[in-house]
Amino acid sequence: MAIEHTDNVISLHTAHSTYQMMVDETGRLLHLYYGRRSAGVMDYLIPYNDRGFCGNPYDAGNNRTYSLACLPQEYPTFGTGDFRSPALEVVTEDGKSGCDLKVTGVLVENGKYALEGLPAVHADSSEAQTLVVTLEDKNVPIKVELLYGVLPEGDIITRAAKITNTGDTRFYITRAMAVNLDFLTGPWDLLSLYGYQGMERQMQRTPVTFAEQRITSRRGTSSHQANPFAILAAPETNENSGSCYAVEMVYSGGCEILAGRDPYRATRLQAGLSEHLLRYPVDPGKTFVVPEAILSFSATGFSDLSIRLADCIRDHLMRGPYKHKATPILLNSWEGCYFTFDGNKLLALAKEAKEMDLDLLVVDDGWFGKRDDDTSGLGDWVVNEKKLGMPLTSLIDQVHDLGLSFGIWVEPEMVSEDSDLYRAHPDWALVTPGRYPVRGRYQLVLDFSRPEVVDHVYQQLVDVLDQRPVEYLKWDCNRSIADVWSNGTSDQGRVLYDYVLGLYDLLERLGKRYPKMLIETCSGGGGRFDAGMLCYSRQIWCSDNTDAIDRLKIQYGTSFGYPTDAMGAHVSKVPNEQCGRITPIETRAAVAMAGTFGYELDPAKMSEDDRNKVREQAAFRRANEDLIFFGDYVRLSDPYTSSFTAWSNVAKDRSAFLLTAVETGIQFADEPVRYVKLSHLNADALYRCSFDGKVYPGAALMETGIPLPQAKGEYHAFQWRFETVR
Ligand code: GLA
Repeated sequence: MAIEHTDNVISLHTAHSTYQMMVDETGRLLHLYYGRRSAGVMDYLIPYNDRGFCGNPYDAGNNRTYSLACLPQEYPTFGTGDFRSPALEVVTEDGKSGCDLKVTGVLVENGKYALEGLPAVHADSSEAQTLVVTLEDKNVPIKVELLYGVLPEGDIITRAAKITNTGDTRFYITRAMAVNLDFLTGPWDLLSLYGYQGMERQMQRTPVTFAEQRITSRRGTSSHQANPFAILAAPETNENSGSCYAVEMVYSGGCEILAGRDPYRATRLQAGLSEHLLRYPVDPGKTFVVPEAILSFSATGFSDLSIRLADCIRDHLMRGPYKHKATPILLNSWEGCYFTFDGNKLLALAKEAKEMDLDLLVVDDGWFGKRDDDTSGLGDWVVNEKKLGMPLTSLIDQVHDLGLSFGIWVEPEMVSEDSDLYRAHPDWALVTPGRYPVRGRYQLVLDFSRPEVVDHVYQQLVDVLDQRPVEYLKWDCNRSIADVWSNGTSDQGRVLYDYVLGLYDLLERLGKRYPKMLIETCSGGGGRFDAGMLCYSRQIWCSDNTDAIDRLKIQYGTSFGYPTDAMGAHVSKVPNEQCGRITPIETRAAVAMAGTFGYELDPAKMSEDDRNKVREQAAFRRANEDLIFFGDYVRLSDPYTSSFTAWSNVAKDRSAFLLTAVETGIQFADEPVRYVKLSHLNADALYRCSFDGKVYPGAALMETGIPLPQAKGEYHAFQWRFETVR
């Protein structure tokens, strides 16, 4: 049984972890424990002390040792004497804030709960159990259902919440977290992923301090700046040892992850919605759903934590035709052509792609409306036949006739002021009345909180996609939301959340209508790389920065929280368009092969030699799909401190692995030899290397490592496959 409920104690067990809570004698839900799998009841951990200035709830009588300011809780609220960050804040229409929640029901079910309109981990009744703890306040008409999904095999616990108005007047939600985790002991480090367009998901590790730290996006999207993912780790934790907890939001709008120590040295970790402009009205009888967060714990370091999260996303979030399937190797037109192409140029790209043994041609931005640069055309999803010099159907047919699949780019959430859509419906853009809007890349954001706007865009896209089978759709979103004003509601505090529901609705409808289509999402590169999106799109463009060396850090950070086979990664030309760096094509391919793999350049400008190499690279990637798409991704060095970056894709049964190592600078002839230390191998196995044919013992590979060849020059890459020989 994954969920045990005895008397007043509820325990959630996974293969390697236990999560425990208790309904105390006042009816409040206290958190007891989350960590290494354990039997027994951990209520002995809770201290009851008389603390000055901490306050005692009225029903504690004269007991000054019962204070919610110090007790570990599952879902703390303001107004109970807890002055730390609340998980939930509600305000009634007449201005009363706070509530005091007590348990009124506990329900255990087989299977995993779903969330209406929102992405969530899915699992069948043999794979998961659900716990619902209902909390109510005697004086405030509110019902809170805390939802816990337990996937024991995968070491995953999910959390979400439903907030229902059981009274007869409206209240507003101004803060809503999916997760609150109180840790009585410490200290802890917080690992988080910050960044900007072109340098997403950079790793930051800091101690959790007495001043609260917030990872939060006020951009309406999960953002480049503050990825909705964090790890809380013991200070000594590294890749292969130590305790660590991951929290990952399954949501693509603004999120908040908060960590802070209280004066008594307990640590509170929270994850949920960003409270930026949140004032969501909940009318009598209505329910507000707090998006889901995924939790996992590892007592054996970061690598195992990342593997668990990757498997959860691969097996229980991803859907569609490419779930458990390698994705096609594509040629994308963007960096090779930008806006300058016609149908014949695209056909020439397709022919080259076919000759180089690739699978798919993607026509990026510029095929629709009036769109010869980025100042116009967004919102007009009508084929520009004049520019193409042919109907889209003819282009698609000819690409298909070559034996290639066809893909196309769209940016459905956006509108250019110079577009027919904006001229017809200026009120459909998010613009604050009486003010000039903030422009981003010259464009405005459509009001996806309004169903009629979503319906209109859906119909436009369907009119294009229905014409012929389209095997791939790239869904872009090239700015943040700076003006939050909808003409469709008088409650502006609901707009950002409803916008995300509109986005998910459109993605869901397209996924259903085109069940064979592969969707890749994107937001100025990796500005919306989150677990919510991975429920609708198999892959996400990782960054607009295609430089192989910068990508090492971007992909390293991404790999902590996401399956690497979901990272859109392409080989582009040199000097690199973004930073001017020149790297060998072998290195660019080795780095792109960590992700989905494809090319984004004009093959007509490549040498014959490089075109031949592309063919070999495509073959190599196909020969290693078993490891890249189905194995465990294991980080073998830290690109911030090491002179090389290495990783391996290891078969689940440890029978084979692909080692990739990339030198990040120049090697001098006389330099000390660099050894890559492997991990996650079978210590008793012998592995034969595809490169030199030699046999290497698993134990020694993990103990001492393997030397990288001495080679003069810069940015060398090594990619070797190893198979067990006995
Ligand atoms: C964004 C994407 C790019 C490309 C352009 C097109 O920047 O990240 O890959 O699609 O838009 O305008």
